[in-house]
Order: sequence, then C-alpha cells, then structure tokens
Amino acid sequence: DWTSEQFIDATVAELKEQLGNDKVVLGLSGGVDSSVAAMLIHHAIGKNLYCIFVDNGLLRKDEFQTVLDSYQHMGLNVKGVDAKDRFYTALAGLTDPEQKRKAIGRVFIEVFDEEAHQIEDVKWLAQGTIYPDVIESMSVKGPSATIKSHHNVGGLPDFMKLKVVEPLKALFKDEVRLVGRAMHIDETILGRHPFPGPGLAIRILGDITPEKVNVLQQVDHIFISNLKKSGLYDEVWQAGAILTPVQSVGVMGDERTYENVVALRAVTSIDGMTADWSRLPYEFLADVSNEIINKVKGVNRVVYDISSKPPATIEWE
Ligand code: XMP
Repeated sequence: DWTSEQFIDATVAELKEQLGNDKVVLGLSGGVDSSVAAMLIHHAIGKNLYCIFVDNGLLRKDEFQTVLDSYQHMGLNVKGVDAKDRFYTALAGLTDPEQKRKAIGRVFIEVFDEEAHQIEDVKWLAQGTIYPDVIESMSVKGPSATIKSHHNVGGLPDFMKLKVVEPLKALFKDEVRLVGRAMHIDETILGRHPFPGPGLAIRILGDITPEKVNVLQQVDHIFISNLKKSGLYDEVWQAGAILTPVQSVGVMGDERTYENVVALRAVTSIDGMTADWSRLPYEFLADVSNEIINKVKGVNRVVYDISSKPPATIEWE
C-alpha cells in the first residue's frame, strides 16, 4: 500500500534520472499542488528548478509577499514578478466573466513566456497537475488551471514547446497534502483553501479596478482571518467574499449612505463538483458583518450566500 515516503523516494529518483542536468521552469500559484510539485523537483535537481510566481494584482491581501517569503524559506529558487499593472490594463472595461478569464489567461502566458525566455537553455515545463485534473482536462474551469486551460489562446507560446513534467499526475488531493506534509511544507500552504486562477477578478461582478480590488481584499481579509481565529477555517472547503455592483441605502450617524453590498460565501465540499453552503454560526456571521461595515469604506451591507451547488456554482462568475 501507498506511503508518502515511498512515493517521495521513488519520484525523486525518477525525476533525477529523467531531468539529469536540465533546467526546468515551473509557475507557482501559492496553492498546494504547484508547491508540492516544486518541492519534489527541488529535491531532485535543486537550483536547476526555476520557479516563477506572478503577482496578477488579483490575489488576497498581502498574499504575494507572504507566499513568496514562505517559498524562499523552503529553499526554492523563486522569482516573484510584479505584473499587477499589466493585468489591470488588460482587464479595464471588461465585464463579461469569460472575457475576464481570457484576458487574465492571456496576460499570464505573456508574462510567463517572457520570464521563461530569460532562463538560458531551459528544457522542461513542470506542472502541478493532479489526477482529477487529468480526468477533467477538457474543462476550462479546472481548479489548478493556471497554464494548461489557457493554451488554446492564440498561437502556442514558446514555453509550451518545452517538454512537460508532471510529478503529481497520479495523485489525489489528499495524497498531495500527505506528500507535502512529509516534505515539511508550511501548513499555511498545505491547508489553504482552493483559490481560482483568475482570483478576485471573478469575485468582483462587473469591471475590475484597483480600487475595487482593494475594497474586496479588505473584506476578504476580515472574513478569512475571523474564520481562522474561530477555528472554522479547516471546517470549510472554500470561503471568500464577493463585491457586488449593487448599492443600497444605509445610515451612518445622521447621514444616509449609498454604498456597495458584499456577499460572503463559504461552502463544504469534497471536490468542488458539488457543494453545500456552510452553516456558519449566527454569532460569527454577526461579528464578521459588523467588522466589515465598520472598517471597510464603501461597504454598508453584508449578505450571506445560502445557495448550494448545483444549481448555483461556488463562484458567482
Ligand atoms: P464553480 O464556481 O465552478 O467552482 O463551482 C468550482 C471550483 O473551481 C474554482 N474555479 C476556478 N479555478 N480558474 C480556476 O483555476 C477558474 O476560472 C475557475 N472558476 C472557478 C472555484 O474557485 C472552485 O474551487
């Protein structure tokens, strides 16, 4: 039967054999899969693994720096690339969810391709593809769809001509976590909720501006840090906040306000294919709602999404 130690030993040996002295490039996302794939390859070839972590300006509050720090702490050879403005420019004025996804995919490929070009004589592209992605590979919305789901956009970028190495291709998510744990990867990375590649762009209904991203980051941060503080984070499969384009009337002191409505979403699920809304305690929701409305300028109403998937999806876009 399967143990993570055996898997690690066998895989590292195979990777050494397969990759030899070749250079490998890998896009890190902050998620479990790409992080565990990176560590396995790092064990096999060390500094010949070149990791790229792109800040698309659509990550959670402080996420880029925090995750970059933990990658460096893990000894990975990782380059953080600030491409926020390029993503915001490409997204400006777009409101259709699929158009937003396509724009983000396109810019990601441009940035990644430019970075890969700077690695002299790179031969391989590593990906954190896991077994369910292999099965679902026809879907554009696969959870780990950072690179592969977008390769149908325009001509094939140069990095797609690289040979592909996917060390997690036979594993399920829980096995990936066990492997990560055996390699002492930070629990904040291993226990992380899934987060979509297009990030906060598909949680801001309508067009994206840096100001809206900033508002949503504050709201999301309050929600997520309260989940952690209350010990509820691990009971929820995925959670986040949605910035709606709806404005509603409120009252602040003697003043009437007319500001945005945010929705909170938290679900339980096994694999994201079906999901039920989390029965978070009323008191918890009350505290989070108060904190959001008191602290975040531009938000005067909080609602909680009580829809299950199907027929609703987890994301709103
Ligand atoms: P839905 O909203 O379809 O989401 O119920 C199921 C899971 O997939 C994630 N998701 C995405 N992941 N790119 C991704 O990498 C996407 O475009 C995308 N859309 C949804 C979602 O966060 C949930 O985990």
